[in-house]
Amino acid sequence: MDLKGKIALVTGGAQGIGRAIAKELAMAGADLALADINLARVEETAAALAQETGRQVIGVKMDVSNITDAEEGVKKTIDKYNRLDILVNNAGVTRDGLIMRMSDADWDLVIAINLKGTFNCIKAVTRGMLKQKSGRIVNIASVAGLMGNAGQANYSASKAGVIGLTKTTAKELASRGITVNAVAPGFIKTAMTDALSDEAKQNLQRLIPLGRLGEAEDVAKAVLFLASDEAAYITGQVLTVDGGMVM
Ligand SMILES: NC(=O)c1ccc[n+]([C@@H]2O[C@H](COP(=O)([O-])OP(=O)(O)OC[C@H]3O[C@@H](n4cnc5c(N)ncnc54)[C@H](O)[C@@H]3O)[C@@H](O)[C@H]2O)c1
Repeated sequence: MDLKGKIALVTGGAQGIGRAIAKELAMAGADLALADINLARVEETAAALAQETGRQVIGVKMDVSNITDAEEGVKKTIDKYNRLDILVNNAGVTRDGLIMRMSDADWDLVIAINLKGTFNCIKAVTRGMLKQKSGRIVNIASVAGLMGNAGQANYSASKAGVIGLTKTTAKELASRGITVNAVAPGFIKTAMTDALSDEAKQNLQRLIPLGRLGEAEDVAKAVLFLASDEAAYITGQVLTVDGGMVM
């Protein structure tokens, strides 16, 4: 898959799945902007990826839950590269707890970042993509948004919302050659899942037909495909990357 000449913006790109996606897109030839709430870490990652891949990579400070931040990050990307072809909405957080004990603040924060943040970034790129009559948007959802997960009411609702948002955006933008898809990872080895106990990890592993937790690169390869020309006739879909857990 060849992304030479393409410009991609990856949110939450400082670490984990976002970093792996950025690397995969850069190795396919794209130049990149990585946006993250953690400026120091995203700048470090951008410099490392530029070194590793030989592509141009800039780090941009962005809190995706803030529409002004989203618009400024997109503007910085376009100021630098003159266009934007691919948006990957990857920034996300968890604040787990059973519903009875879940605070309003934890509910609001997860919805604001995971769901509204995805909406904000889509809104910020739409005008430019409509004008150029092409674009790829890939939203990172989760299997929790498809099957629910005890202790993750806020997270699973946000990711189910991302799936609905993906389908509506796909319908609104399809006539201008813009595709919008979601990737729903299962349990992937990153800082987000490091917090789980060994026992919880072993229990999860038993639910995965392929018998292992996923790597960030497993998700990144699916995103690369959906961002490529090869996926031109695919829109509004949810691709699970979960070792067969949801089928
Ligand atoms: N790890 C998993 O098992 C798993 C499973 C399913 C879905 N996901 C999803 O994949 C995505 C990446 O997860 P990860 O495991 O790499 O997590 P991670 O915590 O390692 O990385 C998340 C990144 O997002 C950034 N971020 C957080 N809040 C932000 C904000 N408001 N604005 C901009 N950036 C922000 C963080 O600084 C961090 O760099 C998330 O959307 C997550 O929900 C992860």
